Amino acid sequence: MRVPLLDLSEQYRALAGPIREQLEEVLSTQRFILGPKVEQFETALCQFTGAQFAVGVSSGTDALLAALMAVGIGIGDAVITTPFSFFATAGCIARTGAVPVFADIDPETFNISTRALRRFIEGECRRQNGRLMTTDGETIRAIVPVHLYGLCCDMDAVMDVAREYGLIVIEDAAQALGAQFPQGSGPGAAGTMGDIGCFSLYPSKNLGAAGDAGAIVCNNGELAARIRICRQHGMEPRYHHQFIGGNFRLDEMQAAILNVKLPHLTSWSAARRKVADLYREEFARRKLESRVTLPFEPYRGRVPEHHIYHQFVIRARNRDELRAHLAANEIGTEIYYPVPLHLQECFRYLEYERGEFPEAERAAREVLALPMYPELTAEQQRFVVEKIAQFYGA
Ligand SMILES: Cc1ncc(COP(=O)(O)O)c(C=O)c1O
Repeated sequence: MRVPLLDLSEQYRALAGPIREQLEEVLSTQRFILGPKVEQFETALCQFTGAQFAVGVSSGTDALLAALMAVGIGIGDAVITTPFSFFATAGCIARTGAVPVFADIDPETFNISTRALRRFIEGECRRQNGRLMTTDGETIRAIVPVHLYGLCCDMDAVMDVAREYGLIVIEDAAQALGAQFPQGSGPGAAGTMGDIGCFSLYPSKNLGAAGDAGAIVCNNGELAARIRICRQHGMEPRYHHQFIGGNFRLDEMQAAILNVKLPHLTSWSAARRKVADLYREEFARRKLESRVTLPFEPYRGRVPEHHIYHQFVIRARNRDELRAHLAANEIGTEIYYPVPLHLQECFRYLEYERGEFPEAERAAREVLALPMYPELTAEQQRFVVEKIAQFYGA
């Protein structure tokens, strides 16, 4: 039995009619850039997330870059983030001219550890003229927490730190559209708890376009206007550029597809949680809990969308051998991510060393993403767990 890591064909089959209709409409109007489909998507995204403002952009990467640029982060600044994420998180910080600085992750959630965050700020930074400075003299301006795999960071703790030190919070919610965190004040939607939230709508995401796409949300009108201007080279009015932005526009074809898909997102995420539950049952039935560690669900029972399972990621003993065994049985898996950000070749200039973020480094050695999508069948899942059991001789 073939079990791909992700298979989008079923989803497309179910929605092919309305998607083609929508695309045909865009083609017949020949309006491709920033038209009614993008506006419709932005309105729908506000309703879906509860954010006051939404701006459609060209990718999750551009969402992060535009957010950082819109708040004026650049040379002389530093931004704190996690060392265990997709490259774009730190790459965008560096592209503004700022320095990415890292705090290690929590081994249970894989998200930034708020204890490590405090330890870094209290142990390695200093306050000067009301600013928080690194030992190298950069001004720390922001925190970029990442809601990895579809599980929110502890945003109450992140926001406490941010308020205490006057830092901007830009949520990298690329993998977490629809996820919730149980805030003291009630369920908080990923992307809406900080100052700005960034989403990726890359085809493999829970809500995926037919190409690159992304979105930014926020609750501050002035900031939203700046982000909107930033999306078009900082231009306002036409051909007058207030600051340097980029071409970060979402196009009408992608927005048209996203408009068809967004109403299904909640049920898709619920289906993913069911897939996760069945994996859990199967791992327990085969008594594999001592060989693998299953995803942590700290918010289960406290908010409905406690995890949206963008990925179902286990820690596994002899991970690479297990992966090869599964590949030999036509089971797709992936390692998100094999090299932590502080050890990436392009960040050598930051002078981090191996061993500096031990939890991120251990995660990079142990994690393995198993097949996960709403249409995955119980039979396929049982086959995956059976092959894992076979590998461990369990
Ligand atoms: C955590 C994280 N941040 C940023 C991005 C960048 O998004 P995109 O691929 O849409 O540019 C991704 C995409 O994979 C991601 O997973």
